[in-house]
Amino acid sequence: MLILTDFLGKGSSRLCFKHPTEAKKVVKIPSRFKEADTFDREIRAFYAAQSVLNDFIARNAPRVVDTNLGKGLECDAFFDDDGSLSKTLGHYSENGRICSELAEQLDFFAYNLMAHDLFFYDFNPNNFVVQITNGKKRLKYIDMKSFCRYKGWCFLKLENICAPLARLLTKRRLKKLFRLCGLKC
Ligand SMILES: Nc1ncnc2c1ncn2[C@@H]1O[C@H](COP(=O)(O)OP(=O)(O)OP(=O)(O)O)[C@@H](O)[C@H]1O
Ligand SMILES: [Mg+2]
Repeated sequence: MLILTDFLGKGSSRLCFKHPTEAKKVVKIPSRFKEADTFDREIRAFYAAQSVLNDFIARNAPRVVDTNLGKGLECDAFFDDDGSLSKTLGHYSENGRICSELAEQLDFFAYNLMAHDLFFYDFNPNNFVVQITNGKKRLKYIDMKSFCRYKGWCFLKLENICAPLARLLTKRRLKKLFRLCGLKC
């Protein structure tokens, strides 16, 4: 069992801790009981998106681990050259705008999702981190639990009927992200 002590950050549904034994990993703990259901969805999303999003996501699949705080999701962590944990996209948006280096990557990220019918609903800027290596900024999508193929209605095998709706929703959420980053779309 992993004993988690070093808190790194939080979103609206999970707490993120330093991994106690693996320097390049973090462990995410749901702050609400039912959120543990999302682990499976996030693992499936990783495999579904891996070949399309490759450099935009972690290299290794997340996995469920036992911790002193209950079940957690062990994920690759992103660190900058100086050893600090990479900061969120929100952090790099100055006066609601991001630099062209990140804008190009965001554009390519969105293009890949739409071109391959990979539908996600949550593109909050805090679901991306910007990793700085060799002076370059690299956009990483670190929260894939909004993957929609595994939403309730999809369990009813309605994926094909609902695909246009899922596409529309993904597009809308991407547009919102672009607006938040001061970009046209
Ligand atoms: N792999 C990672 N590398 C670096 N920092 C991370 C990583 N995963 C999470 N974080 C940090 O922890 C925060 C919360 O993580 P995450 O987005 O997974 O939580 P959440 O509660 O599921 O989010 P939401 O509010 O979107 O539901 C992130 O905004 C980020 O600052
Ligand atoms: Mg999040």
